[in-house]
Amino acid sequence: MSSDHQDLKQEEIDRYRERSREGRSLTGMIDSDAWRALRAAAQGGRFDQVCLDHFSTDVDVLSIGCGEAETLRRYSHPNRSGELVGVDISTEEMLRGRQGSTEAVELITADAEELPFADATFDVIVAATCLHHLPDWQHAILREVRRVLASSGVFIFSDPLLYNPLSFAARHVLETRDRSDAEVPLNPFTLRRTLESSFETVHLDWFYLVSPAVAMMDKYVPFSPGRVAVGMHRVEQILFEKGLYPLAGSVVGVAESPR
Ligand SMILES: C[S@@+](CC[C@H](N)C(=O)[O-])C[C@H]1O[C@@H](n2cnc3c(N)ncnc32)[C@H](O)[C@@H]1O
Repeated sequence: MSSDHQDLKQEEIDRYRERSREGRSLTGMIDSDAWRALRAAAQGGRFDQVCLDHFSTDVDVLSIGCGEAETLRRYSHPNRSGELVGVDISTEEMLRGRQGSTEAVELITADAEELPFADATFDVIVAATCLHHLPDWQHAILREVRRVLASSGVFIFSDPLLYNPLSFAARHVLETRDRSDAEVPLNPFTLRRTLESSFETVHLDWFYLVSPAVAMMDKYVPFSPGRVAVGMHRVEQILFEKGLYPLAGSVVGVAESPR
């Protein structure tokens, strides 16, 4: 990619994050911790659980599109021997991330589509709601993530999907003007195909409308509909097995051993 193109992308992302922080987009109306909590509730905590399962103290972890590096920071503790590295194209995010960060997390301004690392450098690569910001996310998975991962490495990600009616309406009616031009929710068919051609094993958890809504109620109402959420998620997984996954709203994926 030319440096002109990279500068344009960086400016555009910085502008988007600024608007978001000023509350001029849906995601900007609530603070980032609350947004993260909502995301976790919407996916039954699956993304956090997968990170917990794979971020053992001796593995080297790279987070792409890491923002302020919240995902990494949660795992930086004194006993850790493996490296924690975050990259983001936004210089502003990297500055903010460094302010709140410990020395254990290294933050680098870089494009996830052209990672500045040697082949097979990391045991784990994580992308928390990053892929749908990349104009050519397939290229990022097929080339860069695979290249930089160790041969037995794990790629973990979470992203919104294209055909979910609720998020489609939210994006088009509520906040089209504030959306980054580079941001397009993922096509679930392309995603599955891309991953299966790039990794030995792929596990995808799809989240629809109902169980996220019930799970969110679980967080904000005085009674606990938690069991209903678990049941609904099970029904939704069956829908997925029957081929109805295109309507899912988000996905959490774990792909192991790049081919
Ligand atoms: C929705 S935010 C997610 C931030 C963080 N992962 C989190 O969960 O809070 C998406 C991030 O991707 C970054 N990003 C967008 N395009 C990128 C690219 N080409 N390379 C690296 N980072 C990028 C943005 O700057 C932004 O910080």
